[in-house]
Amino acid sequence: MDLKNQINKDKLPQHIAIIMDGNGRWAKKQGLIRTKGHEQGENSVRETVEICREIGIKNLTLFAFSTENWNRPKYEVNTLMRLLVKSLKKEIESFQKNDIRLNAIGNLDLLPEKPKKELLEAIKDTKDNKHMTLTVALSYGSREEIVSAVRKIVEKTTSGELNGSKITEQTIDEHLYTSDIPDVDLLIRTSGEERISNFLLWQIAYAELYFTEVLWPDFTKEDLLKAVINYQNRERRFGKTSEQIN
Ligand code: IPE
Ligand code: IPE
Ligand code: MG
Repeated sequence: MDLKNQINKDKLPQHIAIIMDGNGRWAKKQGLIRTKGHEQGENSVRETVEICREIGIKNLTLFAFSTENWNRPKYEVNTLMRLLVKSLKKEIESFQKNDIRLNAIGNLDLLPEKPKKELLEAIKDTKDNKHMTLTVALSYGSREEIVSAVRKIVEKTTSGELNGSKITEQTIDEHLYTSDIPDVDLLIRTSGEERISNFLLWQIAYAELYFTEVLWPDFTKEDLLKAVINYQNRERRFGKTSEQIN
C-alpha cells in the first residue's frame, strides 16, 4: 500500500473524528432499502479502525447516531440499534486483540435496554486497553452535551465546590463527555455534505475539515490515508502568521 509510506509519523493527528454519512444514498443507488446501507457501513467502520490503529492514531471518534436521528422512521432506528448490538458482539474480540479501548459519548440513557447494556459491558471490558481509544458518538448532540456541562458546572457553583469567577475554558472541557480525549485535529465527513450537524462543536474549534464525496459504505483504508496526507500538507497557524510557524 503505497499511500501508507507517504504518512509522516511525526505529524499524525492526535484525534480524528468522522461524520459517517451517506449510507441511505448508497443503498438507494443499489436499489436497496436504506438499512442495507447501514449494514454495509459496518465494513467501512472496521477498515477505518484497522488503518487508524495501524498508522498510530491515538483517538478516533465516529459519529454513529445523532440526537436528531431519533426522529427517523421507527424501523430505521430499531435496525440501527440492532446493528449496534450485533457489531459490538462481533468486534469485542478484535478490540482486545488490538488493544483498543472502547468509549462512548452521548445521552446513552435514551438507548434501549439491550444496546445500552452491551455497550457498557464492552466499555468495561476494554477499559485498560492503551493503543487507541475508539469513541462512538451515540445519541449524541453537541448542544445537548454543552447544556449538560453547564448544568454540572452550575450545580458545583451552587454547592460552593466551584467559584464562578474561576471558570475557564478548561472547566468547560472537563465537564464535556470528551473530558478525557484531546481536541479534534482532523474532522472528516463523507457523502459530499459540508456541514457539522451538531457534532463536537466545542472540540473542533481548530480542527482541519476534510470533506469527501465518497459515500460511507464505499469509504476504504485508502480514503482514510488520503485524508491524513491532505491534513499533513496543511499549515496550521492557530492565529499566528506563517513566518511565526516556520
Ligand atoms: C449516515 O448515513 C448514518 C446515520 C446518520 C445513522 P445516512 O443514513 O444519513 O445516509 P444518507 O445521508 O441518508 O444518505
Ligand atoms: C449526521 O448525519 C449524523 C451521523 C452521521 C450519525 P445526518 O445524515 O443525520 O445529518 P444531516 O441530517 O444530513 O445534517
Ligand atoms: Mg445523512
